[in-house]
Amino acid sequence: MKRFRRLRSSDKMRSFVRENEVGVKDLIYPLFVIEGNNIKNPVDSMPGIYQYSIDRIDEELDKVDELSIPAVLIFGIPDKKDEMGTEAYNPNGITQRAIRHIKEKYPRLIIIADVCLCEYTSHGHCGVVCEHKILNDETLPLLAKMALTLAQAGADIIAPSDMMDGRVNAIREMLDANGFIDIPILSYSAKYASGYYGPFRDAAGSAPHFGDRRSYQMDTANAREAIREIYDDIDEGADMIIVKPALAYLDILKTAREKILQPIVCYNVSGEYSMVKAAAMNGWIDEKRIVMENLIAMKRAGADRIITYHAIDVAKWLRQ
Ligand code: PBG
Ligand code: ZN
Repeated sequence: MKRFRRLRSSDKMRSFVRENEVGVKDLIYPLFVIEGNNIKNPVDSMPGIYQYSIDRIDEELDKVDELSIPAVLIFGIPDKKDEMGTEAYNPNGITQRAIRHIKEKYPRLIIIADVCLCEYTSHGHCGVVCEHKILNDETLPLLAKMALTLAQAGADIIAPSDMMDGRVNAIREMLDANGFIDIPILSYSAKYASGYYGPFRDAAGSAPHFGDRRSYQMDTANAREAIREIYDDIDEGADMIIVKPALAYLDILKTAREKILQPIVCYNVSGEYSMVKAAAMNGWIDEKRIVMENLIAMKRAGADRIITYHAIDVAKWLRQ
């Protein structure tokens, strides 16, 4: 008789035939860095997540380093915002200074720099705005400038998340022209206009002041289009790509895995984190079990690496 249960009979047997695994090497931890001194602001909608000023960020980085989490993703929150998001490409802006600090103090860490204007613009959109339209081509040079200042500050990987067309090309040209030929681009290629980013916009202070992001981020109903975006970004020079969000888009992740050979990262976004946290805090679910189940689902679907706010907890659990 065929008995599937033979291979499920004990811990060691299950472990012996297990197809996928989440390891600490898979994890990328997002960090929010804010202007000012002695700040550790809790993000209300993301229990356990804080905005840190540079002088206190080591509290978090020491844990990351000690747990051997290989990479962090940096989001800067500037004091002053304007129409053109000038702080985004200020060589001494908050993000650039944070990166310089991390690079110097934690040389083992891979620093991934998110490239987008929405944390820096007064209107909260990811590009230059004119008469309530988000302009594509006018935004590209600003993104390229931002990427360059981040690379100069010490970023190891540049990750454009703006969803303007042609930005990978613009950034690649700028990096190459300035000698950063070896800095890879991790492009948010398939980034959907998702309600799951809600808590992040609290954390990064980047909610749009009018309208929404549907004219540049992808329509949630589309699957084939994601593959076109991914192919196009690779064509423009992306070294790795991101699928975002993760859980409601595992089909996209799986199809991408079947179609491309480049590394694929998925972003277990803020809303996915907050939902799990809320239910766990109510005692409705077993947090550790649910988080690990979600992460293994992402691996099973084809993610090579996972950006997740759970990274520190997961790294601790994996040690036990
Ligand atoms: C910036 C950016 C966003 C996220 C990552 N980079 C927000 C957005 O597009 O509105 C979302 C991350 C998350 O929800 O955890 N463009
Ligand atoms: Zn943005």
